[in-house]
Amino acid sequence: MVPSRAPLSVPVLVLLLLLGVAGCRCQYKPDWDSLDSRPLPEWYDQAKFGIFVHWGVFSVPSFGSEWFWWYWQKQQYPAYVNFMKRNYPPAFQYQDFAPLFTAEFFDAKQWADIFAASGAKYVVLTTKHHEGFTLWGSKYSWNWNAVDVGPKRDLVDEVANAVKANGNLRLGLYHSLFEWFHPLFLQDAANVFSTNLFPTSKTLPELYEIVNKYKPELLWSDGDGDAPHQYWNSTGFLAWLYNESPVRDTIVTNDRWGVGSICKHGGFYTCTDRYNPGHLLNHKWENCMTIDQKSWGYRREAVLSDYLTIEQLVATLVETVSCGGNLLMNVGPTHDGRIVPIFEERLRQMGQWLGVNGEAIYNSSAWRAQNDTVTPGIWYTWKPQEKSIYAVFLQWPTSGKVTLNVPLVSELKTQVTLLGYSQPLKWTALKTSGLTVLLPSFSIGQMPCYWAWTLKLTGAD
Ligand SMILES: *[C@@H]1O[C@H](CO)[C@@H](O)[C@H](O)[C@H]1NC(C)=O
Ligand SMILES: *[C@@H]1O[C@H](CO)[C@@H](O)[C@H](O)[C@H]1NC(C)=O
Ligand SMILES: *[C@@H]1O[C@H](CO)[C@@H](O)[C@H](O)[C@H]1NC(C)=O
Repeated sequence: MVPSRAPLSVPVLVLLLLLGVAGCRCQYKPDWDSLDSRPLPEWYDQAKFGIFVHWGVFSVPSFGSEWFWWYWQKQQYPAYVNFMKRNYPPAFQYQDFAPLFTAEFFDAKQWADIFAASGAKYVVLTTKHHEGFTLWGSKYSWNWNAVDVGPKRDLVDEVANAVKANGNLRLGLYHSLFEWFHPLFLQDAANVFSTNLFPTSKTLPELYEIVNKYKPELLWSDGDGDAPHQYWNSTGFLAWLYNESPVRDTIVTNDRWGVGSICKHGGFYTCTDRYNPGHLLNHKWENCMTIDQKSWGYRREAVLSDYLTIEQLVATLVETVSCGGNLLMNVGPTHDGRIVPIFEERLRQMGQWLGVNGEAIYNSSAWRAQNDTVTPGIWYTWKPQEKSIYAVFLQWPTSGKVTLNVPLVSELKTQVTLLGYSQPLKWTALKTSGLTVLLPSFSIGQMPCYWAWTLKLTGAD
């Protein structure tokens, strides 16, 4: 019998429409043209400053670099080989470090408090670095995760909850696509990536798992293992992330999704580690860098001069933001879960500086000039809606005067102030453009801050 085909009634059509909206909006197709057309969620550019956290089994030897396993066993660098010979029994394997990853002093709330005190607006945690050890209890990681071995805790869950509970921070998750020594990855690589055993059984299930479970607002992908994005099915995953995932409205991603995608596809560009071009880019970018100049993971042998000073860190933040970037500043916690005082001090100093000068950083835009054309060490930002120009100067001049060559000023309208100081400053116009500002003659105790200062110009162009 042929059922009669009555036309769909209006309520049924409405219902189908609603179901469609609630299900997949499928606005983005799994190709770069479509994915790259997605506007970056606004919060990311407004935030300007985040904290990167490299933590894992590499934090146990805490020697050399988070690339310890690779440098020791693959590259056989003498420094690493000798370190192992001198300090561990002959049969000791990298896997034997995992039970020593104890995290007994780890307090996620304390971490979140320190990160928030730095003035950062987001935190990016390594959920899994190239060693493959997952800091969460992944269904796809058998005995090589923080719940089965080592801390016996879901570290991602603890950090995620503390970061979200803080109220001033957004959660970002770092995840490595490849794993140096995973047999399935090695098998695919031997097949020149014509097979995809590893992404389908490991990488992709993990990515869906961390997004669904921890609902990050930033996904920081890394480690393409020299394989193309087709091997990783990166565009398929990103289409799901942008169309259907629980974080589709706010999720921000980076550009490390397969060979050739870096600095070209995805969300914001990272280009290279410690990328700081010194000029404006026409695409949102991020400068990810480390306080310990030599490593992302904690290193016990670091000496004071390996750590960037607060002056260097503030300068990097200011240069980065002036050129349209965000700064992602890295700390490496210890195997027992501490953020050592040198890192804590740098973070709190950043927060102190931002407490005075944050107006020039958060929610700012790149101006028509990034740095001054005459005076070195002056970096500009602006807020178009408020018609304010900010000039951050990195040195307090002995002359007590700062010359800004770029702004166009008017005797009647232009006002100059110093952030953190209430009185307007005296200034004189230069011949064609620009002005010379007379700084207040502060004693040390009167300084609003110590590592860089901000002039705010209103009524100028
Ligand atoms: C790639 O990802 C998409 C979206 O999740 C999925 O539909 C497709 O089956 C995946 N392809 C492969 C080869 O895994
Ligand atoms: C930046 O702008 C957003 C959106 O207007 C606002 O919610 C946020 O409070 C601003 N942040 C700062 C630090 O001014
Ligand atoms: C402005 O910055 C660029 C890039 O860092 C640099 O080459 C140039 O010398 C700077 N200008 C001044 C006046 O310092």
